[in-house]
Amino acid sequence: MNSPFPAVSYADMQGKVALVTGAASGIGEACARQFAAQGCRLVLFDRNSDSVEALAVELGAHAIAGDVTEERAVADAVAACQTHFGGLDYAVNSAGVAGKPAALEDTTMEEWLRVTGINLTGIFLCLKHQLKVMKAAGSGAIVSISSGAGLIGTPYLAPYCASKHAVLGLTKTAAMEVAPSGVRVNAVLPGSTRTPMLEDSMRQGPELETMILNSIPCGRLGTADEIAAAVLWLCSAQASYVNGHSLVVDGATISR
Ligand SMILES: NC(=O)c1ccc[n+]([C@@H]2O[C@H](COP(=O)([O-])OP(=O)(O)OC[C@H]3O[C@@H](n4cnc5c(N)ncnc54)[C@H](O)[C@@H]3O)[C@@H](O)[C@H]2O)c1
Repeated sequence: MNSPFPAVSYADMQGKVALVTGAASGIGEACARQFAAQGCRLVLFDRNSDSVEALAVELGAHAIAGDVTEERAVADAVAACQTHFGGLDYAVNSAGVAGKPAALEDTTMEEWLRVTGINLTGIFLCLKHQLKVMKAAGSGAIVSISSGAGLIGTPYLAPYCASKHAVLGLTKTAAMEVAPSGVRVNAVLPGSTRTPMLEDSMRQGPELETMILNSIPCGRLGTADEIAAAVLWLCSAQASYVNGHSLVVDGATISR
């Protein structure tokens, strides 16, 4: 996860300003590293203050410790892009949680609100504040991280599955609203990707890891860099006519 993947160069990204949520770990961190490798100026947002600050120091970025469910924190992160760097060109909304596995009828209201609060309301708040700035500038590209669970049922992860489906609705709606302003809004739907989130889940038992691997036709987990590569392409000018799209990156897992 430490080296840029692969050595692609998007000339249009040099000097542009990118905001990444969930930047302290996994897919968000890989996106931050790949944007940095393209010469972007970065604002990194995460509720894990130590890790996000350490990464910001390493990448020469600006760190904001905060929670995507708090509108003030999200607004501050977008404002920081303007204050420190004069605008916002790209935003990646990667902050998310898997939630505790449970049958739907055993899922508590508290867990439902916690998971949908981060995975759905968090994305709504990010889009709301990012779009305001991008619409006014007449340009910009946003990628929100949904999941393969945004397209298919996911037993025992109802709040996660519902929130990831809903992110696609938000993405399509936002794209239609802002396309006339020159702003693009897309979603990436990763399959099982080796990150701390998935490793945490797999610690629940070796049989879970085997089950996950058996469900992936290409026979291996994805890497955070493979997901970030798709995110950067969607942000780049190479994807200038791609808007409102849900891009699955999963080694053919949901093609079966
Ligand atoms: N890893 C996978 O297999 C996989 C598959 C499909 C989708 N995804 C999605 O990709 C995204 C990133 O996941 P990951 O695998 O990199 O996980 P991760 O746990 O490695 O990273 C998630 C980051 O988000 C941060 N975060 C969580 N809640 C937050 C909040 N309320 N406010 C601010 N920051 C918060 C965490 O501190 C962490 O740094 C998530 O939305 C996840 O649902 C992951």
